[in-house]
Amino acid sequence: MIVTVVNQKGGVGKTTTSVNLAYVLARTRNVGLLDLDPEGGTTVSFGMRREKVEREIGGKSVNIFDVEVFPAHLGLLRRELEGDVESTVASVRKVAEGFDVLVVDTPPNLGTLSLSATVAADKVVVPVTPQPLTMEVLKNLDSRLKGLNKRALAFTNGSKKPLKEGASSIEFVDVAIPQSRVFTDASRLGVPAVRYDEFRFRNGRLTQHYNALAKVITG
Ligand SMILES: Nc1ncnc2c1ncn2[C@@H]1O[C@H](COP(=O)(O)OP(=O)(O)OP(=O)(O)O)[C@@H](O)[C@H]1O
Ligand SMILES: [Mg+2]
Repeated sequence: MIVTVVNQKGGVGKTTTSVNLAYVLARTRNVGLLDLDPEGGTTVSFGMRREKVEREIGGKSVNIFDVEVFPAHLGLLRRELEGDVESTVASVRKVAEGFDVLVVDTPPNLGTLSLSATVAADKVVVPVTPQPLTMEVLKNLDSRLKGLNKRALAFTNGSKKPLKEGASSIEFVDVAIPQSRVFTDASRLGVPAVRYDEFRFRNGRLTQHYNALAKVITG
């Protein structure tokens, strides 16, 4: 199963979602995590560096906390600018063959990489941080999804009230990931927030939220 995390808006939690979903799913499944953002947010969140070489998609992986992480590399930029969707979709599907679940993190745009990962996806997940232009962003994404004949599951960091109308391909699930300082602290340390939360506080509150999200996504 391919789970692609998208939102063309930057800084809404795509990387945080990808990293923590992969982390909790890896407790019960064989999980891969593909960083398709040339910026390498997921790569850094697992304490690694972007690779300064051009690779194929899925060309190298490292197992961290039971997640097989495919770090970002310079080849992603070339794909974004020169690559075609069909072959990129095929590459993503090929990587997914080795796993129960492949989680894919995407860049904040609707370019080749995020489009391909969306086409390849069995489940499209949209983290939403309600802000003034959120509805416009979601409507654009919605029309893109309709064009692809895809549906997406969305969640917010709390309130979901203003976001119900106008984007019929995007269904808001009954799970929210509340705001927390843990995310910033964890990303500074290069570990998934769920892991950091468990070690630091031993109450596993974040774990419960991400387990709930994982459940509605993987059903
Ligand atoms: N639920 C949350 N509560 C508080 N902070 C959060 C939450 N989710 C994410 N953050 C923080 O918000 C910032 C942006 O998150 P993240 O990098 O996941 O977004 P993104 O959509 O991947 O951004 P980009 O589009 O630039 O790749 C990070 O500093 C992260 O720690
Ligand atoms: Mg990101």
